[in-house]
Parts: sequence; C-alpha cells; structure tokens
Amino acid sequence: MFDLLTPAQQDPILSLTIAFREDPREQKIDLGIGVYRDNNGQTPIMQAVRKAQQQLAETQESKSYVGLAGSEPFNQAITDLLLKGTDGYSRSATVQTPGASGALRMLADLMHVAKPQTTVWISDPSYVNHKPVMEAAGLKVRFYPYFDRQTKTVNIDAMLKTLSEAGQDDVVLLHGCCHNPTGADIRPEHWQAITEMAQKQGFTPFVDIAYQGFGDGIEEDAYGVRLLADNVEELMISTSCSKNFGLYRERTGAAIVVSKNRETA
Ligand SMILES: Cc1ncc(COP(=O)(O)O)c(C=O)c1O
Repeated sequence: MFDLLTPAQQDPILSLTIAFREDPREQKIDLGIGVYRDNNGQTPIMQAVRKAQQQLAETQESKSYVGLAGSEPFNQAITDLLLKGTDGYSRSATVQTPGASGALRMLADLMHVAKPQTTVWISDPSYVNHKPVMEAAGLKVRFYPYFDRQTKTVNIDAMLKTLSEAGQDDVVLLHGCCHNPTGADIRPEHWQAITEMAQKQGFTPFVDIAYQGFGDGIEEDAYGVRLLADNVEELMISTSCSKNFGLYRERTGAAIVVSKNRETA
C-alpha cells in the first residue's frame, strides 16, 4: 500500500533553512521560520513557560483523561487572550488542538460535516498547508489576490474586488497578523471593509492567527479577529502557542468557533 504514495511537495521554507545552514558567512541571520530567537540564535524556554512547567510537575496529581475538548483552563485562557471583551466571547466554544495545524484540520472537517459544498477562499500566496489541509477535508479551494510585489503591501483593491464574489456557501480564510509568507498585514480600515462584506454577502470569516504578539503587540495583533467577533454571527479561529510562547515542540493550539449563541457553538 505505502509504495503507492508519491513524495509530498517540500515546504520552500525548509530548503531556505538548509541553504542558511550551509551558508559560511558569520553575519547571517535566519529569518526563515517564524519562531522567537535570542541574540545567540536560540529559541529559549521562556521564564513563564519554565515556571508553569515546574508548577505542573509539582501540583498535577493525575494523568487520567481530560474531556474531549482538552484542558478547560487552557481553553478558557486562550479564548480570553483572543476574544475577551468582544460580543463573540460569550457565543464561542473552544477545543484544544495540536498546534494551529490541528485546529486548521479540525475546523476544515467541521465545515465539511456542516456544509460539504463549502468553498474556502485562501490568499495568494498563503501558508503552504492551507490549501492541502482544506482539500484533504473535501472542501473546494479558491484564491484571492493578496500581495503587491512592488509595494510589498496588501493589494487591498484586488483582494476586495475578488472577495465581492464570495457568498453564503463560502468561507474566507484570513491571517490574523504576520501574514505567512509575505509579512504584509491587513490594516484596521480594511478589516472594517472585510467585516462589512461578510455581513452583507453572508460569507463566514476564518481567522488563522499563529503569531499573536509577533507583529505590533499582543492586543494590536488581535484587532481584526476581535472586530469580526464583535460584528459577525459566525466565525472560526485557529490559533497557536508554538511561536508566541516558544512552545513549538509541545504542539499547543486551539480551534474556536463563534456562533449565533453559546448553544450552537
Ligand atoms: C499561518 C500559519 N498557520 C498555522 C501554522 C501552524 O502552526 P502550528 O505550528 O502551531 O501547528 C503556521 C506555522 O507555521 C502558520 O504560519
């Protein structure tokens, strides 16, 4: 069975990592993978993480099952970090996932169960796994233009023009901050325009926010997702602690659904 498989397409970031490792220059800086690094190029265990780890080791009394949604205190805390103070906060439900990757796949499967004819609109270019993950769940994928290579900013006119085609069977996947791979982010006034389009056209926004705190700040980076949570009926969010907590190898993240009311969520 397994010899029928063809090799997976390589993530271009990985070949960049290899090229970096092999570059003999001493002044080199690796800006390839989006993780926190100190001046020595190390990703340290952050003080808060070390403390939490010690606390857990000293106080945890059992390794028995938690519920299917994972750690409830974690789910509460991550939802607070993203949505506290918004209208959508009380209409949300959260499950713990293996990183944002796990959240992307879970939400993709959820969409397929809820509405198999869903088309997911993805930025061109986007995080290398967005398209394959959505397609693996059986969803259709379309692209919206995103990056203006000349100005190195978001080509907002082209983006909004294309998204004017999105309707009730569509989901629009947006990067909450620190767009991967371009680094070009949606400005506040444009989040406003996207929110109004979602209200008017009936598409469902899906915010993938894997770098909260790596852009303009922990609060600032949540601007777009909070604006949507305040103003739309339904919203999906995938989030990650891999980068902002330096927890990559722990595979920590969450999938959040905001719906009409708590019950539906
Ligand atoms: C935009 C985006 N979404 C999701 C992920 C996956 O995050 P995680 O490593 O927490 O699974 C990444 C990681 O590179 C990313 O850049």
